[in-house]
Amino acid sequence: MTDGTSIKIGDRDYGVMSGSTGPDVIDIRKLYANTGMFTYDPGFTSTASCESGLTFIDGDEGVLLHRGYPIGQLAEHSSFMEVSYLLLNGELPNKEELDKFSYTITRHTMLHEQLATFYRGFRRDAHPMAVMCGIVGALSAFYHDSTDITDPYQRMVASHRLIAKMPTIAAMAYKYTIGQPFVYPKNSLSYTGNFLRMTFGVPAEEYVVNPVVERALDRIFILHADHEQNASTSTVRLAGSSGANPFACIAAGIACLWGPAHGGANEAALNMLREIGRPERIPEYIARAKDKNDPFRLMGFGHRVYKNYDPRATVMQKTVREVLTALNVTDPLFDVALQLEEMALKDDYFIEKKLFPNVDFYSGVILSAIGFPTTMFTALFALARTVGWVAQWNEMISDPDQKIGRPRQLYTGPVQRDYVAVDKR
Ligand code: ACO
Repeated sequence: MTDGTSIKIGDRDYGVMSGSTGPDVIDIRKLYANTGMFTYDPGFTSTASCESGLTFIDGDEGVLLHRGYPIGQLAEHSSFMEVSYLLLNGELPNKEELDKFSYTITRHTMLHEQLATFYRGFRRDAHPMAVMCGIVGALSAFYHDSTDITDPYQRMVASHRLIAKMPTIAAMAYKYTIGQPFVYPKNSLSYTGNFLRMTFGVPAEEYVVNPVVERALDRIFILHADHEQNASTSTVRLAGSSGANPFACIAAGIACLWGPAHGGANEAALNMLREIGRPERIPEYIARAKDKNDPFRLMGFGHRVYKNYDPRATVMQKTVREVLTALNVTDPLFDVALQLEEMALKDDYFIEKKLFPNVDFYSGVILSAIGFPTTMFTALFALARTVGWVAQWNEMISDPDQKIGRPRQLYTGPVQRDYVAVDKR
């Protein structure tokens, strides 16, 4: 909404819009028409691409709110199903609403059986994210009755399907790479318990869900559920802005999330901790991270928005201890991680650049203790982020100001010139 103030650019005034909290924004929609100039903002560091009521981040203060609720409170007291409902519907559900929502999601967890054949087209050593991009994109070929984006009911069904099927898709991607039979969903289990069973269970044996592991993984899902207009969410919105169907949009989000600067960072962080291996080697890696001539960065450190401790990393650090204790595992990498964090946070380079551990720094240690191979880490992130993606996508489609996303550019190529025949070049 416009707050009545304005800012002068050239000889024109441009309205300033205020949200419920956070920085105001300058409404430059008429800038090009008035001045013939674009704005230049690679990486969108100063650009608000949309209005949104889902998630608020104050990176300087280390605050993350979903529909107003602090992430720490949600991680402590809520469940992934409840947070999913909150993100999709705007309010926390009452008991009846939550039961109904959980029931609906549970009843959508199976995949069209023909998709099992689709998996078999991949090489066994395919990365789970490659498989997930393919399978999720292919859902639009199987669920034609939920691809009309102008129909709110179909949008809701597609959203429920995506949230419900993602654990099945991710677990099947894992089972395929290790050559074990797919395990079908079991409706008596929770969302997260069901995922654990589909991933680690085998048809030959009864699988008993460990409640500490179930709670820890559910919490990891909550911590990854949404994160404002990050790269993959913006990708989903941009893909969706053309009217593409939701399954195609989420496949685009998965592709973006795969990158090491985004969702791939937890895999990269654990690989880095393994490479460091022993606390004595930490100073060498800190020196490398600071060396301008070395491309190495401390993975799991730094964030585009947080210039303070990532509030999700605080919950993660606590969860690592719980899981390691419950599973009776001593992981030397956790000590390496704790000492690396301590040393980096005392180092002037990291202090000056405001580089703190992010959500990915500790998540790898937990997931590895639970038994997930590193290649599955980003797949788990995609599974959890699906709710944020669909909630943001729904919000965008319902926004009357929504237009196809079409950034402009500062052109630096050749100016117009005449074609020269090949024998004259
Ligand atoms: N290690 C060492 N130096 C770093 C690190 C790091 N992890 N992160 C940033 N820096 C330095 C940069 O070299 C740069 O230095 P300079 O100003 O001297 O050139 C400065 O800090 C700013 O870095 P940018 O890359 O410009 O910051 P940006 O906001 O674009 O990047 C990013 C954020 C991509 C997350 C970055 O911190 C990074 O690469 N971190 C490691 C990867 C990672 O953990 N990603 C997960 C992000 S969280 C998520 O996606 C869920």
